[in-house]
Amino acid sequence: MHHAHNDDATTDPREFWENRYSSAERIWSGRPNATLVGLVEDLPAGRSVDLGCGEGADVLWLASAGWEATGVDISATAVARARAAAEDQGLSEATHFEATDLAVWSPIEPFDLVTASFLQSPVELDRVEILRRASSLVAEGGRLCIISHAAPPPWSESARGHGPGDFPQPEEDLNSLNLGAEWTTEICEVRRREAEGPNGELATLLDSVVVTRRRG
Ligand SMILES: C[S@@+](CC[C@H](N)C(=O)[O-])C[C@H]1O[C@@H](n2cnc3c(N)ncnc32)[C@H](O)[C@@H]1O
Repeated sequence: MHHAHNDDATTDPREFWENRYSSAERIWSGRPNATLVGLVEDLPAGRSVDLGCGEGADVLWLASAGWEATGVDISATAVARARAAAEDQGLSEATHFEATDLAVWSPIEPFDLVTASFLQSPVELDRVEILRRASSLVAEGGRLCIISHAAPPPWSESARGHGPGDFPQPEEDLNSLNLGAEWTTEICEVRRREAEGPNGELATLLDSVVVTRRRG
């Protein structure tokens, strides 16, 4: 027998994110992340992957900038929206989306760019392990770009508890990767950004930004 349960209370990551995406026609703006665009716009295009790509705006931007762009997300609904947006924008050929839990995702070919933007979750997410494995997927001469909330936005759901490591600082993030001597840190800093919350409220948000390059 199935037990009725409150959807918001689930702690299963797939169910949590499916519920989150299914709760609205779209949960993100559809615009690429300006910080990410600034970090990668001058890089030569190659193969990219975005970890926790959501509805795919960053993947679509990368594809439009010439990248062979992959996006991975645990939510099948988010990935279906990303694929539909790619189709609408004529970017189906240049993009590839996978609905997969990154904890078990194991691609074969390396990537010139691995991005993780706000790969953070109020439910279980082995972020450090996922990012460590992601670093091993970076090709020689390629980069890993990690952008994270360094502090909770004031409008984030206050009902949910946050644990240590949920809002990583850049040095902590970089150190947790245990990267070898073949890596060069290009950016490791907190950036401030003005943003508008869901009800139009304005706030200054803190982003942790880490860019590291594997020597080629
Ligand atoms: C805070 S959202 C960020 C989405 C997008 N990158 C952005 O910048 O707007 C975190 C994303 O990570 C995804 N996610 C959480 N845990 C995951 C996992 N284990 N494997 C793959 N994706 C996951 C969620 O479905 C969600 O889309």
